[in-house]
Amino acid sequence: MPGGQAELFPPAERPPVIDGATAPVPGSEGLDLETLRARAAECRACDLYERATQVVFGEGPEDAELVLIGEQPGDKEDLAGHPFVGPAGDVLDRALEEAGIDRSVTYVTNAVKHFKWKPAGKVRLHQKPNAREVAACRPWWEAEIAAIRPSVVCCLGATAAQAVFGSDYRVTRERGTFRELPDGTWATATIHPSAVLRSNDREEAFAGLVADLRLVAERLSGPR
Ligand code: URA
Repeated sequence: MPGGQAELFPPAERPPVIDGATAPVPGSEGLDLETLRARAAECRACDLYERATQVVFGEGPEDAELVLIGEQPGDKEDLAGHPFVGPAGDVLDRALEEAGIDRSVTYVTNAVKHFKWKPAGKVRLHQKPNAREVAACRPWWEAEIAAIRPSVVCCLGATAAQAVFGSDYRVTRERGTFRELPDGTWATATIHPSAVLRSNDREEAFAGLVADLRLVAERLSGPR
C-alpha cells in the first residue's frame, strides 16, 4: 500500500500502484486530522483533482463517535469545500435529526474527496467514481478513521459500502446490519441520501434511511 500504512480494512481492493503518482498519501497511522487535511489538498493520486475546484476533506470532531462516509462531493460541496452541504446534505440533516443523531458530533466524509463531473450545457453532471479512483482515495478515509477511532462507521450508499466491505457488498441486501471491523469499529451501510431524492416514493425511501440511522443511534448508545 502506498506509504506503508497499516491495513485497517482487509476485504476490499487495495489501492493500485499509481504510475508516476506524486501523491502525498498518508505515510503512517497517528497523523491528526489537520495534517491529513493539509496533505490531502495536495493529493494527485488520481486525475480527479484536475477538474475539481478543491479537495473536500471530512469534517467533524476528532473524537466523533460516528463517522459517516458518502460517495464524493457534489457540485455544491465542490464549490463550498465542505461535505454534504447541498441537497443530499439537507436530506442527511433531516434524517439524522429524526434518528436522534447530532450531526455536530458526527464526522462526515466521503470515499472520494474530489468531485467527478462532466459538462452538460451549463451544469456539471455528477459522474460515479470508478474503482481506480475509489482505491486511490482509500488511504485518506482509512487515515481519518485511524485518527478518530469512532465506535461506528456508517456508509451512505454503494460506493462507500463497497470501498469499506468489498465489491460484493450489496446495500439492498445488507443495509442496517453491522459487521465488526478488525480494529473493533462497528460498521454498517444504508442508502445514499440522494437516493431519497431520486426515489419515486421519497417518503418511503426517507423512512428507510431514518430506520437504518436509528439502528446506528442504538449501537452508539448500547454497550461497547
Ligand atoms: N454526496 C456525497 O456522497 N457526498 C457529499 O459530500 C455530497 C453529496
